Amino acid sequence: MEEPEIQVYATLDALADAACERVCNRAWSCVQEHGRFTLALSGGSTPRALYTRLAQHPELPWDQIELCFGDERTVPPDHPDSNARMAAETLTEQSFVPAGRVHRMRGELPPLEAAADYERTLRSVFGTHAGFPRFDMVLLGLGPDGHTASLFPHTPALTERHAWVLANPVEKLQTQRLTLSYPVLNAAAELLFLVAGADKAWALHEVLEGTASEQHVPARGIHPQNGRVAFLVDGAAASALTAS
Ligand code: 6PG
Repeated sequence: MEEPEIQVYATLDALADAACERVCNRAWSCVQEHGRFTLALSGGSTPRALYTRLAQHPELPWDQIELCFGDERTVPPDHPDSNARMAAETLTEQSFVPAGRVHRMRGELPPLEAAADYERTLRSVFGTHAGFPRFDMVLLGLGPDGHTASLFPHTPALTERHAWVLANPVEKLQTQRLTLSYPVLNAAAELLFLVAGADKAWALHEVLEGTASEQHVPARGIHPQNGRVAFLVDGAAASALTAS
């Protein structure tokens, strides 16, 4: 894998502006190159600023943009913790986003059923060809503990090399989370980490400059075989980087 690109921004707003420009440019180039743009949305709070910016771009080819999710909490879509709800509040319920292009994980189902259901959904989006689905772009966050998507430290999902979508028991959260697996994430053409806040400084240093295993710092397990990784971070998150 090529070295990840790292861009440091003074503020979350500047980071979100840059991320929006990247997503828009990538969307146009993918649609022009192969007729569509497949994007996996990240959850949490950081991407909110990006999604509200994307909602200011009705001119994008939304009918050719497939919006999927990298992970989801095991809650209904109207629950305050739902990633689908956050995306709906900021972007996916915009009138110019076709409902048929939004593919949420059904967190309201029993977790194992929800994971199998989402694999079927991904097969309907990507086709049932051999191999893992290759997203044009995957958005990722980074937790203070080094998790990404819902790949948390020392959880069973970290060792899965075949399934596309997993119901991952996360003991410290006393819950299960739905998540794309490493093979699917690492099949992507481009992965964009959005990382902001001083509480991410340790994790970002560990990911970019540490030597811990992916068991201990799961975001270190993101290294696409044939893809690019970029980290868009703010100054606070970059504060522990030696090269920043
Ligand atoms: C989720 C995520 C998760 C998130 C990180 C960072 O469902 O919570 O997908 O991986 O990206 O926990 O979250 P914040 O952006 O809220 O810091």
